[in-house]
Formats: sequence, structure tokens, C-alpha cells
Amino acid sequence: MSQDLVLQQRDGYLLHLTLNRPDKKNALTFEMYLALIEAMKQAEQDDGVRVLLLSGAGGSFTSGNDIAAFVAAMGQPEKARIPLSFLQTLAGFSKPIVAAVDGVAVGIGSSLLLHCDLVLASEEAIFQLPFTKLGLVPEGGTSLLLPQQLGHRLAFELLVEGDAIPAHRAAQLGLINTVLPQSQLLDSALRRAHALTRLAPEAVRQSKQMLKAANKPALDAVLVSEVEAFAARLSSPEAREAFQAFMEKRAPNF
Ligand code: COA
Repeated sequence: MSQDLVLQQRDGYLLHLTLNRPDKKNALTFEMYLALIEAMKQAEQDDGVRVLLLSGAGGSFTSGNDIAAFVAAMGQPEKARIPLSFLQTLAGFSKPIVAAVDGVAVGIGSSLLLHCDLVLASEEAIFQLPFTKLGLVPEGGTSLLLPQQLGHRLAFELLVEGDAIPAHRAAQLGLINTVLPQSQLLDSALRRAHALTRLAPEAVRQSKQMLKAANKPALDAVLVSEVEAFAARLSSPEAREAFQAFMEKRAPNF
């Protein structure tokens, strides 16, 4: 079943992973995380894969962690480590990662993009890090990477106010590379991903590593400390109220 929720397609040196749960806006279940981790680990070892492309099916990238799955997993700390393992695998992936974002990229759907190397988005793409609205705290390295990239005030706006921003604003802030009409998104992402596969693979890998080296120790540490804080918040009364409100389709009352 996890195979269907994350589609894998090989095209030459490209591995294309598609999040495939469109009826739930591609919200990520633990099974989907495990499928993504497994695919990335295999791709890391496979010289036949030079570039990874990530996209979502059905007009959404992903609405982030599946809230119902998280509620069901409360009190199971080993489950909380699965998204951490996904983030560590993604952040440590040595080959280029291209993301094609259409529709919503919420929570980890936005934070995972900070670990991608090229991000292309459609004009319909919407980015949001609504952690505090859910009684949670930042994850995915955002508490380190966003203040570094944007300064404190813009990072505060995105991470603490947590409102959705459209694709053009994300491009203006330098969070993504390009905004395209929806009809051109996937072709354009495939073109750029294939172009990367034609570059000298070892030179590309080393270059990526050099770009990320200075930040690596701090990022490795913050991914863990954020998840610990996030996991503690999951069982807080604030988060419980926020999740309950989401499932009851009402506004939370903090
Ligand atoms: N977890 C679980 N289910 C989710 C989900 C999530 N993160 N995101 C969407 N869904 C489900 C909805 O409950 C709905 O299910 P239903 O059809 O059984 O009622 C379905 O996906 C479609 O979502 P809907 O809310 O109707 O679509 P929308 O276009 O009105 O809104 C979002 C899309 C993404 C803005 C909205 O669904 C949302 O805010 N989701 C929560 C995102 C979030 O907070 N993620 C971070 C979690 S840590």
C-alpha cells in the first residue's frame, strides 16, 4: 500500500517520487515517510540514480503531517522519530533534489523544501508553516535555516504568525527558484532535473556537499532538538485542542 502512496518512476538517471494521496492533499502518513526513506536510501547507494525529483499528485504538493495519524500515534515515541529519520535522510542526501510544488505545501511540506536544491512552483502554489496555529513549534530545520536566510523578522512572520504565502512572495523571498504556469511545472522540473543528470555526477555531489558543509553540524543538531520539542508539544493541551478543532472543522479555542 505504501508503494501506491509514494509513486516511484525511473527515467534514465532520474528518480521521480510522487506523493500520491490526493484526496487528503498528500498529507504524510508514517507509511509514506517510511516509503520515502527507503527510496532515498536505495537511491543514495545506486549509481544509476543521479538526481531526485519530488512532486505531489492531484494539484497538491503536501499538506504536511497527517493530523489524524499523529493523533493516533500519541504516546508512541518511536513513531515520532520517523519524520526525524525522513528529514535526516533528506538533509543528508548527497545527490541533487529538485522539487516541483503545485498547490499546498504546508508544515513539513514547506520545511522539506529548505533541503531541496532547486524548487520550482506553480502560480497556484501556497506555502505555510502553521506550527503555532497547531500549538506546535518549528521543525525541519526551519528555526535555524529561515532566520539565516531571511533574518529574524521575516522568519518570525513565517514561523510564528504562520500565515500562508503565495508562490510569487516565496520567490521574492528567495525560498524557491521559479514560479511557472501550472501547465508548465512538471515539464520544466523534469527538464532541469534531466539537465542535472547530464553534469559530471561526482563534481555535482561534491559541490552540493561544499555548499552545505558549513551548516551541517548546526543543522544536524537542530533537526534533533526541534523534533524533541515538537514531540513534547504534540501531547500539550494546546496541540490537542488544535488537532481536535481541525478534525471537527472548527477554529481552535486556545
Ligand atoms: N492531515 C490530515 N488530513 C488532512 C490534512 C492533514 N495535514 N490536510 C488535509 N487533510 C484532509 C482534510 O481533512 C480533508 O479530508 P475530508 O475530505 O475527509 O474531510 C481532505 O484532506 C481535503 O482537505 P480540505 O481541508 O477539505 O481542503 P482545503 O483545500 O479546504 O484545505 C489545507 C487544504 C491544506 C489548507 C487544509 O486541509 C489544512 O489546513 N490542512 C492541515 C494542514 C496542516 O496543518 N498541516 C500541518 C500538520 S503538522
